[in-house]
Amino acid sequence: MERTLILLKPDCVQRRLMGRIISRFEDKGLSFVGMKLMQVTPELAKQHYAEHVEKAWYPTLESFITGGPIMAAVLEGLEAITVVREMLGATSGLKAAPGTIRGDFSSSRQMNLVHGSDGPEAAEREIALYFKPEELVDHSPTIAPWLRAADE
Ligand code: CDP
Ligand code: MG
Repeated sequence: MERTLILLKPDCVQRRLMGRIISRFEDKGLSFVGMKLMQVTPELAKQHYAEHVEKAWYPTLESFITGGPIMAAVLEGLEAITVVREMLGATSGLKAAPGTIRGDFSSSRQMNLVHGSDGPEAAEREIALYFKPEELVDHSPTIAPWLRAADE
């Protein structure tokens, strides 16, 4: 089992798309183990996007991500990190394949609705950035035997 961080970004919240996006992850069989609505501060934005802080476009990204509430969540499932990234599609909604979240809902390079951790190290770091350990709820969904074989 793997855990990954997702953020439903301010465009997703403002466009009233949270429910439809959450449904996609539930439909896939991923489990939510943490979830909260919050406001990203400039300080948190710089920590989260540390790899991009020096880029020319970072100031506009910071304005965007701090520009309204976001919903942060932790998803759990087999190969959850890769599965979620594949579900999101390419960074730009203009390049993302139809059928992906960004491909279906975004026409922007910046306003691409959902963040997903891009690897195991990022997932661990980002989950710790947004959630205290006690905010994550360990549970085994009763439907689990119908989502995957016992040896998977
Ligand atoms: O989110 P992802 O890992 O797919 O993309 P990234 O290259 O790590 O960039 C992080 C975020 O910065 C993107 O999801 C976009 O919202 C934003 N971005 C931007 O505003 N302008 C760019 N030229 C590239 C990315
Ligand atoms: Mg990235």
